[in-house]
Amino acid sequence: MSIDRLTQELAELALISAHPTPAVTRVLFSPEDLAARKWLLDKAKAAGLLTRIDPVGNLFITLPGSDPELPSIATGSHTDAIPNAGAFDGTVGVLGGLEALRRIRESGDPPRRSIELIMFTAEEPTRFGIGCLGSRMLAGTTSAEEARALTDADGLKLDDLRPPECRGNLEDVALPEGCYEAFVELHIEQGPLLEKEGVPIGLVERIAAPAAFRLRFVGNGGHAGAVLMPDRHDAFLAAAETALLVERAALESGSPDTVGTTGVLRIHPGAINSIPCDVVMEIDFRDTDLDARERAIARIRDGSQEIGARRGVSVEWNVIHSDPPAICSPHLLDTASACATSLGYSHRRMISRAYHDSLFMARLCPTLMIFIPCRNGWSHRPDEYASPEDIGRGVDLLTHTLLELARK
Ligand code: GLV
Ligand code: MN
Ligand code: MN
Repeated sequence: MSIDRLTQELAELALISAHPTPAVTRVLFSPEDLAARKWLLDKAKAAGLLTRIDPVGNLFITLPGSDPELPSIATGSHTDAIPNAGAFDGTVGVLGGLEALRRIRESGDPPRRSIELIMFTAEEPTRFGIGCLGSRMLAGTTSAEEARALTDADGLKLDDLRPPECRGNLEDVALPEGCYEAFVELHIEQGPLLEKEGVPIGLVERIAAPAAFRLRFVGNGGHAGAVLMPDRHDAFLAAAETALLVERAALESGSPDTVGTTGVLRIHPGAINSIPCDVVMEIDFRDTDLDARERAIARIRDGSQEIGARRGVSVEWNVIHSDPPAICSPHLLDTASACATSLGYSHRRMISRAYHDSLFMARLCPTLMIFIPCRNGWSHRPDEYASPEDIGRGVDLLTHTLLELARK
């Protein structure tokens, strides 16, 4: 089936960006995020689909089934993008989902169960430091109170940023377990395996357990020329030593899947001739093996205290989030496998090292992710790319899987 419409829409959406093409930047509730939401809603309405938005901004686009009392089948992903990202992370799942709903509607044969496409709020952690905000709140993993307390780098909170169309009560976002019969997310792999092996479809069995931490190092500042080296309590150097420990703890965890990244470092006062006195550092740490991850994190936590004590720098350790892995539904894996086989698409089972809204949807209902290849496994960079052919196969499989699930 032609995917010209979808290819065109992916290109159109990529133009709604705070950075020039080919970079894509759409941070939660920025003008670009708001414009992308409106653009998507207009597309959904033009396709004759029903739309609603919840108080945290999750957007729901529904194709009603002939038996609307039955729990729906859901699909979806995100359209927000980290600074200088590409055009395919999340958007393939949202616009691919929209294309699937349109195809099913245009076939003139309504599904038995309703099918709902969800555009989740803030899958990316850019504004508030926490990823999957929308799906976390749907699953009740993050409470309304916790969400209200989130503060961005400019001191703004959710209530300062929420647009008028999602001004409702944040307490109303959480959904009951079993609200959906199934959730299936289409996404680019963000890794190299499918492309390397020439396999067009990955079916995800497990999503790695992500955790993130914010550390604050407070030392003693002063004049970069005047304070002699033995008298210093440089907060940045304590942070730098800790960042090296993050790397060592990941490398030596004993699990091949452990990854640790220090991606944020804010140095105060940030002047070349002033000793850093106050440093905030954020660490992302993940593994498919929860025990290995926890052991490595304990090593970093204890090590950072030792580093701080040795350097006369205080170290405060805050957990941003610490989530267990998600296991995908064996039944959905089998269903999608059978659909892929009937379409003639070879496929393999795999894990997802990136996290996704599926991590939290799996707490509400049986969940599955469908991966398609992306060039060189690149993601979170402007040259991220998935070919129209690969996207087309992913959408074909998503459409068939949704139809199969909605039939029962
Ligand atoms: C999602 O973008 C992640 O960081 O895994
Ligand atoms: Mn991403
Ligand atoms: Mn994503």
